[in-house]
Amino acid sequence: MDRSVLLDRLAHMEAAAELGGGEARIKRQHDNGKLTARERIDALLDADSFVELDKFVQHQCRDFGMEKQRYPGDGVVTGYGRIDGRLVYVFAQDFTVFGGSLSAAHASKICKVMDHALRAGAPVIGLNDSGGARIQEGVASLGGYADIFLRNTLASGVIPQISAILGPCAGGAVYSPAITDFIAMVDQSSYMFVTGPDVIKTVTHEEVTKDALGGAGTHNAKSGVAHFQVPSEEAMIALLRELLSFMPQNNMEEAPRKATQDSATRSCPELNELVPTNPNKPYDMHDCIKVLADDGHFLEVQAEYAKNILIGFVRLDGRSVGVVANQPNFLAGCLDIDSSVKAARFVRFCDAFNIPLLTLVDVPGFLPGTVQEFGGIIKHGAKLLYAFAEATVPKVTVITRKAYGGAYDVMSSKHIRADFNFAWPTAEIAVMGPQGAVNIIHRNELAKADDPEARRAELVEEYRETFANPYRAAELGYIDEVLRPEDTRIRLIQAFGALENKRDTNPPKKHGNIPL
Ligand code: HXC
Repeated sequence: MDRSVLLDRLAHMEAAAELGGGEARIKRQHDNGKLTARERIDALLDADSFVELDKFVQHQCRDFGMEKQRYPGDGVVTGYGRIDGRLVYVFAQDFTVFGGSLSAAHASKICKVMDHALRAGAPVIGLNDSGGARIQEGVASLGGYADIFLRNTLASGVIPQISAILGPCAGGAVYSPAITDFIAMVDQSSYMFVTGPDVIKTVTHEEVTKDALGGAGTHNAKSGVAHFQVPSEEAMIALLRELLSFMPQNNMEEAPRKATQDSATRSCPELNELVPTNPNKPYDMHDCIKVLADDGHFLEVQAEYAKNILIGFVRLDGRSVGVVANQPNFLAGCLDIDSSVKAARFVRFCDAFNIPLLTLVDVPGFLPGTVQEFGGIIKHGAKLLYAFAEATVPKVTVITRKAYGGAYDVMSSKHIRADFNFAWPTAEIAVMGPQGAVNIIHRNELAKADDPEARRAELVEEYRETFANPYRAAELGYIDEVLRPEDTRIRLIQAFGALENKRDTNPPKKHGNIPL
């Protein structure tokens, strides 16, 4: 046969696959302010690096007239490419083909790239835009989802998995992203829900819009399901590329080090004034993180959720570091259910992927109240304790001000294997704050005092002098050094440098039983 005919046939088939669901549906996608699957992959990956797999895979459904509606590629574009020169596997659901819905064939394409990624030790990025299970395929589609969930689970902690939500993500489709490490959503055009507004109305008679139910705002600020909210698809691409730069390729490697002009010996005099003299006055822990970080850059994770704790990535002398920090500006920085769960999951991500942890502590304790107790603060707070205790990555802690009660133990204290624990001279480390402590231990004396208020003030001052400082803890070796705030960046870089080759392990086990 004429070779040019063979090549023409291939070109024809490729063109058909690249057209997805056709011009009209591509136009509709664009009119809705969305890119197509191929445009997204092109934007995400380094130029000309994408290598596609399974371009001609088609569904095998023969019901509902589906045999007459077949599209090469079947609604998902899969393959591998490079981001900043590093290998990644990708899949991008194509909403122009059956609304990006998941058939058995579509699922097997995703499974194939996940299998490759796991064997090659490379991250997987999923670009999700799907109406959920392909309704015409029934249980074959459900099986396809479960095949993906299994792979997500097996790959968890071995290779980074990142989910971008770029359109609807309904029904079982939400559970694959939920098992991955990070979920990022686009404002106004992405939705995640287990059951949509119509089903909710039928079952519970609640009326709710798609956006209020499962939009980017809801999942970033209320449910804590998502980790990032971006205003556009362009911003999503930039975020995905940046996020990946903080991670290693897999759990056997370290994150790449990034050259910086920011000096490792930079002193930070602005930190000397950061903590207000009045212990009840808040300040913004973001300021502390940004001053410490290389080039003042902090990639915050879950910025809108449980704002009493901050989590995210910085670099210190080029090294990727995960930060967990109490935020005195919100709920006085206390630990509650949401902040404990938020931070615990982040600590486990960093530990799984060899990213050292910096913990900044200013915590008055756990949030008291029936809402917290009935909600299970005991088991949720224990998650954070467990996560820090279990983590074997380099762990450095700085207590800037309060470290009271159980929260002192939880926030990466020396006792749960932090490597270096520092405190500023403003630190107050004790079982509880001076007011509460005096009320309990001097109750009898205060009841008999001629002027109880004056006596209380004296006793509070006495307690503060004795306990509300870092020196008792330093006496016991629980604090390795009381630092001048301005020296903190220098010391952190020295500390993480000294821990570069740290090796620590947990006892052999199938897995622990974190209090879920
Ligand atoms: C097959 C689907 C589909 C689906 C959409 N389409 N969802 N085809 N299976 N699940 C098709 C439509 O028929 C249409 O085809 C095209 O995709 C675009 O859909 P539209 O409805 O026109 O688009 P839009 O108005 O933007 O609405 C998008 C949508 C809506 C919100 C996603 O289509 C929708 O609600 N779909 C059903 C969602 C759902 O209930 N999925 C099942 C969830 S259950 P044409 O030919 O007109 O272009 C589930 C269980 C999994 O996922 C459990 C695993 C554990």
